[in-house]
Amino acid sequence: MKVIVMGGTRGIGNAIANSLQQYGHQVISVGHHDVDTSDIGSVRQFIHNNPDTDILVLNTGGPPPKKYNDVTEQEWQKYHNQLFLSFVLILQSIKVNKGGYIFLISSSVVKEPNPNLAISSAYRAAFVEIFKLASRELATQNISCINIAPGLISTDRTLEIMKDMEADISSLPMGRMGRPSEIGDFVGAIVEKQIKYLSGVTVTFDGASSAHIF
Ligand SMILES: NC(=O)c1ccc[n+]([C@@H]2O[C@H](COP(=O)([O-])OP(=O)(O)OC[C@H]3O[C@@H](n4cnc5c(N)ncnc54)[C@H](OP(=O)(O)O)[C@@H]3O)[C@@H](O)[C@H]2O)c1
Repeated sequence: MKVIVMGGTRGIGNAIANSLQQYGHQVISVGHHDVDTSDIGSVRQFIHNNPDTDILVLNTGGPPPKKYNDVTEQEWQKYHNQLFLSFVLILQSIKVNKGGYIFLISSSVVKEPNPNLAISSAYRAAFVEIFKLASRELATQNISCINIAPGLISTDRTLEIMKDMEADISSLPMGRMGRPSEIGDFVGAIVEKQIKYLSGVTVTFDGASSAHIF
């Protein structure tokens, strides 16, 4: 199958790209030099160059950790584009072929807003609403839409943020962060086993860190 993995050059996206490649899919991995999701002109060009696919992974870089009162108007605008508007335009314009998949990489903050991650909490929740609406329409074409909401996954970005936040990894329920390959293997297995009925859902991928049950 033809696969487009956005944010596929590092971290979680890269692990998904590697997993799907190992199963023999034709994977196009793009980084921020190929498409900058904060720049709508760049997104339009990306759509023009990639009109269709069988599998689409919607993923991009995360915003800086900030409390909502500290976020500037410019930052709200930038991340509105980066985390919301660009994904809406891509969802509206890149044709996913019948029987395909769309995976969204969001964050566990969509279920439990984090006061220190105000930008992420706001815009990811907004896009997840649209993604849910899309999943109901796309189901008629046997396209499955799965929102993966990671907790702490051990990528370069997380390690950077953790330094600032002085978080204690050993206090996590599993005593460790998740591995990007665990998400990669999850996506690979869904596609390989052609699991289709899991759609319109948010899968919290957090090693039991969260307290909510849904
Ligand atoms: N890791 C976690 O614990 C965790 C938890 C919750 C949510 N998330 C979210 O999940 C996503 C992936 O996380 P990660 O840890 O794998 O991140 P990462 O290691 O920093 O990788 C980010 C990827 O996105 C690309 N990217 C960065 N800025 C972009 C932009 N403006 N436009 C398009 N692509 C851009 C990067 O491309 P380049 O290589 O070209 O820079 C890279 O491929 C992020 O949105 C993150 O906030 C992560």
